[in-house]
Amino acid sequence: MKVSVIGAGNVGATCTNVVAQKDFLKEVVLVDIKEGIAEGKGLDMWETAPINQFGTKIKGVTNDYEATANSDVVIITSGIPRKPGMSRDDLISTNAGIVKDVTEKVMKHSPNTIIVVVANPLDVMTYCSYLTAKIDSSRVFGMAGILDTARYRAFLAEEINVSPKDIQAVLMGGHGDTMVPLPRYTTVSGIPVRELVPEDRLQSIIERTKKGGGEIVNFMGTSAWYAPGAAAAQMAEAIIKDEQRIFPCCALLNGEYGMNNIYLGVPVKLGRNGIEKIIELDLNEEEQNRLNESAESVREVMGVLDNMEVVS
Ligand code: LAC
Repeated sequence: MKVSVIGAGNVGATCTNVVAQKDFLKEVVLVDIKEGIAEGKGLDMWETAPINQFGTKIKGVTNDYEATANSDVVIITSGIPRKPGMSRDDLISTNAGIVKDVTEKVMKHSPNTIIVVVANPLDVMTYCSYLTAKIDSSRVFGMAGILDTARYRAFLAEEINVSPKDIQAVLMGGHGDTMVPLPRYTTVSGIPVRELVPEDRLQSIIERTKKGGGEIVNFMGTSAWYAPGAAAAQMAEAIIKDEQRIFPCCALLNGEYGMNNIYLGVPVKLGRNGIEKIIELDLNEEEQNRLNESAESVREVMGVLDNMEVVS
């Protein structure tokens, strides 16, 4: 089993480090375009193996996609992150070309791989990779929902003063400010969240979650990496270990939730075949309306991609 991570920036390096520490692979390959970066970070990570007690070798390479050959999962983190004042959508003109180029190189060497996209604007970059890869959509999907629900769950854990391990939640829609956290599907060890958190506090946590990425950009002048990297690593683990885990992921909808030909965050089951199943929840009218609104904003950015004519 082989996992490759493209892009040794903060997200890619963190993801590689988490994958290695989870210790379910013989080797993880890290690729970057900047000479020496992946080699150096990979070596530094490998030198933590005796301390952190893992056996996964980290192979860092510069632009050498042959080293990624026959990967089972490739995680694409390449692209530029946003700066304060930018929305994720502002990144499209730079990142679409990068994602297309990387996907082509990945597919050339690993025609049977599963692709997990992490580049922003997430939903549309996943669509871009799908159009480029020309493989079944069960094998091309994006990481956003695990990150967004993790933020939501972390904020709830703080609010209720319980372990974050006990908060379970579903969140749907695009990876942007229109995302749709679903309190009706949020529990604390099975207890509906509304029994433990007053409505006004819940709503303010939902609002904070929607802008969770921006909160970090405002602190640091660049976007997050610890939670995004860990989230992508969790997806790789679920696929490689065929765990059949249910996570919100950015998936191509073909009729589900009344939508077609759009990549959007929905609950899916992840296993060795990638997306084993898209789970359709029985949304109420308000939830479905919010999901539709989120889909509209993703479609606008899809339109920008189509007009750029980088993929067909
Ligand atoms: C975030 C970026 C990575 O949400 O999209 O932090």
